[in-house]
Amino acid sequence: MNEELKNTLLRAIHAGADQLKLYFDGVFEIKSKDTLNNLVTEVDKKSEDAIIDVIRSEYPEHFILSEEVGELSTESNYKWIIDPIDGTVNFAHGIPICCVSIGLEKDGKLLMGAVFNPFMNEMFFAEKGKGAFLNNKPLKVSENKNVKAACLVTGFPYRWVEVGTDPIAVFERFIRMGLPVRRLGSAAIDLCWVAAGRFDGFWEYNLNPWDIAAGYLIIEEAGGKVTNFNGDPYSVYDKQTLATNGSIHDEMIKVINE
Ligand code: IPD
Repeated sequence: MNEELKNTLLRAIHAGADQLKLYFDGVFEIKSKDTLNNLVTEVDKKSEDAIIDVIRSEYPEHFILSEEVGELSTESNYKWIIDPIDGTVNFAHGIPICCVSIGLEKDGKLLMGAVFNPFMNEMFFAEKGKGAFLNNKPLKVSENKNVKAACLVTGFPYRWVEVGTDPIAVFERFIRMGLPVRRLGSAAIDLCWVAAGRFDGFWEYNLNPWDIAAGYLIIEEAGGKVTNFNGDPYSVYDKQTLATNGSIHDEMIKVINE
């Protein structure tokens, strides 16, 4: 059964990514969502349709949660959590740091997930209890134990956050410590790059389940740790995401909450 689900997942993610490749650097419609710079393109919808078509052709009874269409709710204990383009702003500006992300939950727990950046030809995949892989090679988080020697990545919400931890203040604290902090513009890729040991840690406030679902499992299966900003057990429906190699997790929590 899991092998069949995996095949569907991979076929769906390729179907979505084909749309990204087809339109990248081309002409397509771009609209603003809730704020001027939170964008949705025609290609987000085309990718989403292609992904859902594949999933629906195999598993018409499964629940779907997808960024643009929302919930296609059913009674199923399987839920596909889809981001048809993560890094839409990058995509709209012709920046090839964007991907398709699909996570699959069974009974409320992540069973498998994949994140594919077709422009770097990087396919990240993980299945619960079976490890994480980049283009079929096993992934492991970094071994760095010292936050002062860490390379971090973060993202900023599109609208100013009235509640919660001020993202600029936290960013400033890490910068003042002299750390390299990057901002790639795709939370799903940020998470996968922590899983690959390229970054030691990532934090962001106000993400959505479709940004995180697959990347969360990929980090856990690569030996990393994901919690909220207090170190509590994580859910992809949480608003605070802290994902690290595990070793610098507590030190990052201290700086975030200073
Ligand atoms: C966005 C990206 C970005 C993050 C935003 C997300 P989208 O997702 O993951 O890195 O900072 O909060 O909304 O809109 O490109 O799917």
